[in-house]
Amino acid sequence: MAYKLCHFNDIPEGESKGFTANGLALFAVKKDAELYLYKNECPHLGVNLEFQEDQFLDMDHELIQCSMHGALFNITDGLCISGPCQGDELAAIPWKMDDGYVYLTMV
Ligand code: FES
Repeated sequence: MAYKLCHFNDIPEGESKGFTANGLALFAVKKDAELYLYKNECPHLGVNLEFQEDQFLDMDHELIQCSMHGALFNITDGLCISGPCQGDELAAIPWKMDDGYVYLTMV
């Protein structure tokens, strides 16, 4: 079963957006016209990452940031490069695009 999340253009370049699909908390980041989708769960303590709705990025919008203890993650591969869970990764979630819309392919 595929869950429609949003239109690809609903997420501006350099921004992030949170979703809940089938009880699963997720977020997407658009960078350089590519979309990256992750489970909204910090590998440090398993909490949601954002400090405000749809705010998953650091001030420069170059990295994903956990609001709890400040862990920083690459947008492109979810690897934690700084913080208490350095070396761990966010869980990437498979998705597909169909007619401009972003769909979860597995939940
Ligand atoms: S819970 Fe995310 S850095 Fe601690």
